[in-house]
Amino acid sequence: MDEFSKALQADKREIITIPTIYKMSDFGQLAAEFNLGERDVVLTNEFIYKPFMEEYNIPCQYVFQEKFGLLEPSEEMINIMYDAIPYDSYDRVIAIGGGAIMDLCKLLGCKRPASIHEMYFKREPVIHEKEVIAIPTTCGTGSEVTNISVCIVKDEKDGVLTGGETKLGLVSDDITPNKVVLIPKFISTLPYRPFITSVIDALIHATESFLSPSRKTITSEMYSKRAMEIILEGLRLIAEEGQEARLNYLDEFSTASYLAGIAFLKAGCGTVHAMSFPLGGTYHVPHGESNYALFGKIMEIYNEYNPNGELLRFKELVASITGCEVEKAIDYLNEMLEKVYHLKPIHEYGFKESDIVDFAESVEANQQRLITNSYVQPWTKELSQRVYRECF
Ligand SMILES: NC(=O)c1ccc[n+]([C@@H]2O[C@H](COP(=O)([O-])OP(=O)(O)OC[C@H]3O[C@@H](n4cnc5c(N)ncnc54)[C@H](O)[C@@H]3O)[C@@H](O)[C@H]2O)c1
Ligand SMILES: [Fe+2]
Repeated sequence: MDEFSKALQADKREIITIPTIYKMSDFGQLAAEFNLGERDVVLTNEFIYKPFMEEYNIPCQYVFQEKFGLLEPSEEMINIMYDAIPYDSYDRVIAIGGGAIMDLCKLLGCKRPASIHEMYFKREPVIHEKEVIAIPTTCGTGSEVTNISVCIVKDEKDGVLTGGETKLGLVSDDITPNKVVLIPKFISTLPYRPFITSVIDALIHATESFLSPSRKTITSEMYSKRAMEIILEGLRLIAEEGQEARLNYLDEFSTASYLAGIAFLKAGCGTVHAMSFPLGGTYHVPHGESNYALFGKIMEIYNEYNPNGELLRFKELVASITGCEVEKAIDYLNEMLEKVYHLKPIHEYGFKESDIVDFAESVEANQQRLITNSYVQPWTKELSQRVYRECF
């Protein structure tokens, strides 16, 4: 096991809950509660600003992410953002958007580094200076409560740029937002596909942290379990009543998403996230979707290897919410997921047969932090190959 995984397993914290969480009904209430004004920078999207903020005429500085590009944060995008928002022009950061905006706002709250690249490679310190209030408009990443900011950076090996790019997470408890406000109606404009794949991502966060063999605690399990209950009930409703049923359940989904975020911040994710990273990174499959592509198969293998450990409690939970038989809970869950979102074989995302071996090697080499937290131990290269082959 690598040193980082060992350190994670030795972490004695029972739970990590930094932000204060509020729930509000609209932007007007948010502006009144926090007395928003000219020294507040609001980082958002124009398509969220127009329906939900414009009418209140609150005199903040509104900056739209579209100005820097709608893709995932990169070194280049962050530098453009820094130029567009001078550091001395604001005292507080209000971030209203998806996981990408959540991650960008964490950087706006910090002292500007001489180089973003150096900061992500831990050669420049992270110094938090300005209050950050995060308002998520998707319901999956849990990024609003986590201490991570993910960025596509120029890759390096032994301190030398390789010419390629990779995804890196800047990890520091200092960058966790200070306050989180859930405004469920902000999610109502999110189209069904990003909505449902982000909900499935949150279910996977809750499930993987619930099944964590050595990092979960009594308290993290409480967060995982409640998140799973809420999400499974919501998925059951959508499976029975159709996509529109989600609109009556947005409060619950946004709550479950942050609960799952707190759970995985302590207990960690596992094999699904480990195996999804090469797929998502290489073929640009959105995060929730690449996780979903592998989740069902990995749960089947867990059930084959160790059906009576913590997985039995997971199956009992699925059975209690859906009414299925405990022994058939994994199959039933996969059928319910198929009803809410069609599962595609991974070759449809561009995955090639030769990737089966290469990606399994990559998981073994680069995702130790996650596979050491797998429900089945040890999670071998052969098992990774089997998952990719059977999902092909
Ligand atoms: N820091 C963490 O802990 C953490 C964890 C997981 C993922 N991430 C990062 O989060 C990002 C993914 O987050 P995401 O899934 O929320 O995706 P996202 O932020 O890219 O949003 C998905 C899409 O939906 C749009 N959108 C967001 N809210 C909307 C709304 N209410 N109405 C209409 N459209 C809306 C966005 O503009 C975007 O096009 C990635 O950059 C990933 O690296 C961070
Ligand atoms: Fe995830």
